[in-house]
Amino acid sequence: MKVIFVCLGNICRSPMAEAMFKDMVASAGLSSQIQIDSAATSTYELGSSPDSRTVKELAKHGLPATGMIARQLDATDFNSADLILVMDENNLRDAKKMAPDKNSADKVKLVYSLTPGKENYVVADPWYTGDFAKTYADLSEALPHWLEYLKKRIK
Ligand code: 4NP
Repeated sequence: MKVIFVCLGNICRSPMAEAMFKDMVASAGLSSQIQIDSAATSTYELGSSPDSRTVKELAKHGLPATGMIARQLDATDFNSADLILVMDENNLRDAKKMAPDKNSADKVKLVYSLTPGKENYVVADPWYTGDFAKTYADLSEALPHWLEYLKKRIK
């Protein structure tokens, strides 16, 4: 199984989600069965490392932010991924537009879409809000549902 987290720049929200979900999957003993990556809808930050505020927020929780370099979502991703999890409605629209066909467009879902009662909630862009702790809190709420979802499909 492969999950790709996607946001606008691939330097704030999606690398945070990637690092957090890698840790959750490792704790569940599923690292060999679930591949995790992240990408951008835009080309704004291609080649950049995660934003220093994302790195700092992850460090607060003991998580590394190593080995992540911003890149844009591409056609290969739509083939290789089982799930493309996006942060907000703009990401949803843009990523679906980039999909080569209907089947792969259906892989694109809001990261909050499995959170009961908050299916349409979005992870606000901390690039604008500056609130990286809120991004971490939001992702902490949304990501466990995807781990449960994947566990059911692996076994
Ligand atoms: P992200 O945040 O989508 O969470 O990575 C942003 C990063 C960069 C820009 C916008 C949002 N930018 O305009 O460069």
